[in-house]
Amino acid sequence: MPRVKGVIARTKGAPVELVTINIPDPGPGEALVRVQTCGVCHTDLHYREGGINDEFPFLLGHEAAGVVEAVGSGVSGLAPGDFVVLNWRAVCGQCRACRRGDPQYCFNTHNAAQKMTLEDGTVLSAALGIGAFAEKTLVAAGQCTKVDPAARPAAVGLLGCGVMAGLGAAINTGAVTRGRSVAVIGCGGVGVAAIAGSALAGASPIIAVDIDARKLAAATRLGATHTIDSSTVDPVERIREIAAQTYPGAQGADVVIEAVGRPETWKQAFYARDLAGVLVLVGVPTPEMKVPELPLLDVFGRGGALKSSWYGDCLPSRDFPMLVDLYRRGRLDLDAFVSEQIGIGDVEAAFEKMRNADAGSTRTAGEDPGQVLRSVVVL
Ligand SMILES: NC(=O)c1ccc[n+]([C@@H]2O[C@H](COP(=O)([O-])OP(=O)(O)OC[C@H]3O[C@@H](n4cnc5c(N)ncnc54)[C@H](O)[C@@H]3O)[C@@H](O)[C@H]2O)c1
Ligand SMILES: [Zn+2]
Ligand SMILES: [Zn+2]
Repeated sequence: MPRVKGVIARTKGAPVELVTINIPDPGPGEALVRVQTCGVCHTDLHYREGGINDEFPFLLGHEAAGVVEAVGSGVSGLAPGDFVVLNWRAVCGQCRACRRGDPQYCFNTHNAAQKMTLEDGTVLSAALGIGAFAEKTLVAAGQCTKVDPAARPAAVGLLGCGVMAGLGAAINTGAVTRGRSVAVIGCGGVGVAAIAGSALAGASPIIAVDIDARKLAAATRLGATHTIDSSTVDPVERIREIAAQTYPGAQGADVVIEAVGRPETWKQAFYARDLAGVLVLVGVPTPEMKVPELPLLDVFGRGGALKSSWYGDCLPSRDFPMLVDLYRRGRLDLDAFVSEQIGIGDVEAAFEKMRNADAGSTRTAGEDPGQVLRSVVVL
């Protein structure tokens, strides 16, 4: 049974701790993975703050690349030495969604059956069934997606959550394509990935909205054609103006992607759509949040669709190798998402930077070399 270092959130709101964890040897259908890199996603911070559920202690980290070290019985198509990106959508093939041909909505995705524990035997809840702020982790074999081993782990590992969620929110959920206008509210790793996906799909204009100038600079590098600092400008009005410059008569963007996860930004996204436009909520709200007061007639009268995007409606086996190929060919700059490489002891500091961004502290481009899109733990 491997004993390794891992980052846990022991109780709600407390700083994370680096502790020793015990990992069972892989059983049937399971794989033990030596983690090489793991990005710090906002969802890890949600876990730490009790915003996802109360099943503390959590083993955090879920945006990882690594090398398979051992597999349990009955595993085929995966072997020690394989380079993999971990996913949290190992589809079951049996549930209602899988059977009706929509495996991207699988309601019964696989995780490892055995639990990792603290040294005293306390069972850990692995974030999104992964738990990869650890030297090794135990997952279901289906959570390992083999990709080109020549790719840089820190970059392609980000497909494991945030970058895939953002790209997919645009391309899969929002069905963004050329000839469409897009606005993205919230330009962290997820939102900027939605911008990169929109650029890949040929959309224009692509409007980035954030309250932090550094995020807007990153959004421009990844394909935004316009930026709006919504700490000083009404984003709804400005999105309408920009959309109408390209498409006269437009009353907003065709697709607006909310990548913050807050009622007020969701409402901005709702009103920033053109008539019959699509709103995609990819930001994750916390349990106490409510949809702000909204006249039902506005829901009806504006038409279109109000969607949510879980993991960018991706299928890892289909999407990860395809996106790694685009990365290798220079068409998708995954390296640009790696803002800093940090040690396994630095996760709390990365959370601190995220919280500062939430608080709305505005900085100018170039200031503070800290986390902009992703801090990536390198093991
Ligand atoms: N749906 C999914 O499958 C999925 C997957 C991964 C992450 N997420 C969620 O997506 C959201 C974003 O994740 P991330 O890792 O990019 O986070 P992040 O902290 O890196 O980025 C959030 C961004 O929102 C900006 N922001 C905060 N308040 C704002 C406001 N009022 N107006 C405009 N911008 C504002 C911040 O400045 C920051 O740039 C989180 O809620 C996360 O939990 C969802
Ligand atoms: Zn299923
Ligand atoms: Zn995530």
